Amino acid sequence: MKIIMLGAPGAGKGTQAKRIAEKFGIPHISTGDIFRANIKNGTELGNKAKVYMDQGLLVPDELVVDLVVDRLKQADCEKGYILDGFPRTIPQAEALDAALLAIGEKVDYAINVEVADNYIVERMSGRRACLNCGATYHLVNIPTKVEGICDVCGSEIVLREDDKPETVLKRLEVYHDQTQPLIDYYNKQGILKEVDGRKTMSDTFEDILKILD
Ligand code: AP5
Ligand code: MG
Ligand code: ZN
Repeated sequence: MKIIMLGAPGAGKGTQAKRIAEKFGIPHISTGDIFRANIKNGTELGNKAKVYMDQGLLVPDELVVDLVVDRLKQADCEKGYILDGFPRTIPQAEALDAALLAIGEKVDYAINVEVADNYIVERMSGRRACLNCGATYHLVNIPTKVEGICDVCGSEIVLREDDKPETVLKRLEVYHDQTQPLIDYYNKQGILKEVDGRKTMSDTFEDILKILD
């Protein structure tokens, strides 16, 4: 089962991807999480990516594609995986298709989590993220058990640097310009599925399960 999560920043791709991964026992691969882990560890890749991420811009394709293609070769990806935040541009999608074609495989579903722009900024300002384990919460919708502390690993949760309102607006602009064309790209391949991301987390998850069944 090879699944791609599409959707605007803050649509709930990560939230849903984690639940799907848990349910089906396949890895959740988030390029945003990979970059954030690299930034935290001060790697060369992290230092390069941070410059773009802090401005709400996409990291250049050449820093992303090989990273993901290598990740997909690891043993835990044999039964499938969920890609969250990748591909994000047409060249990334083409590179993924080419890498899969070379081993006789293809993407099964591209699930687009649909949320209108006006709800996005509101959601993002309430999001809190654990930079240690990648878990995400929302101050109102999905609070932690202990205020300010990650339920999973006990680290402090923070407002992501790129979740400040002005950066969110830039990310939305970049999304419409560079990522939204992927909806059409996967629709033409006949594998696009749309879900309403404005429902509750659980209702959206149910809709996704109906598609995957
Ligand atoms: P990335 O980390 O992928 O960020 P993003 O796509 O902008 O998406 P988010 O993670 O912000 O949102 P999400 O859809 O996962 O929403 P979430 O589930 O958290 O990328 C960050 C940056 O890295 C990019 O800007 C770029 O610079 C770089 N990058 C990454 N991949 C790249 C690539 N392939 N190419 C180039 N650059 C790349 O939910 C949001 C909030 O809403 C949470 O608080 C959540 O709790 C809450 N919520 C979720 N669902 C619901 C619901 N149903 N009801 C109420 N609240 C909900
Ligand atoms: Mg995410
Ligand atoms: Zn954590």
